[in-house]
Amino acid sequence: MNQARFTRFEESTHADWAIIDAHFQRYQNDVARRVLEHLQRLRGDTHGYPVDRYTHSLQTATRALDAGADEETVVCALLHDIGDDLAPANHAEIAAAILAPYVDPLNMWMIRHHELFQGYHYRAFYGLDPQAREAYRDHPAYARTVRFCDEWDQRAFDPDYPTRPLEDFVPMVERLFARTPFGETLTVKAPDA
Ligand SMILES: [Fe+2]
Repeated sequence: MNQARFTRFEESTHADWAIIDAHFQRYQNDVARRVLEHLQRLRGDTHGYPVDRYTHSLQTATRALDAGADEETVVCALLHDIGDDLAPANHAEIAAAILAPYVDPLNMWMIRHHELFQGYHYRAFYGLDPQAREAYRDHPAYARTVRFCDEWDQRAFDPDYPTRPLEDFVPMVERLFARTPFGETLTVKAPDA
């Protein structure tokens, strides 16, 4: 039996959840591959920018790596815009949610807020306050988020930059997503004796 038999959760049994859990563990272990597959959906349309979002993502990660950033930060840089195609008006939340189970909460905060912080460089063109990020000046992730945006993200639109290929980052992505989500393995327990 490879599928649960219930038609509603209130009828489910331990055996059902043991089956589901086995499927889930395999699904969970394959998340790095699916994330990388989705990242590649950002290839193609530049949406008017000098490079497409895929090149921009690789270039942001390249700049972070070449600046000596730690591996977790590099992966955050690679994936920071992965939500662009599904949530163009709220993309930072998508990347933050994908990364949250695996990264330092301050790095999750950095990715969640990078859209606002990056706005320092363009919000004025929309009649918005470019200094909006200053509301977070006392936050412990303020400095890293400014660095992320100012040194790597906002500079990563150069078609002539020596951007590293995805292959350089794949092992890093695999190592990050091999971490235990939220530091705790959730599995179906044996039924009480
Ligand atoms: Fe970006």
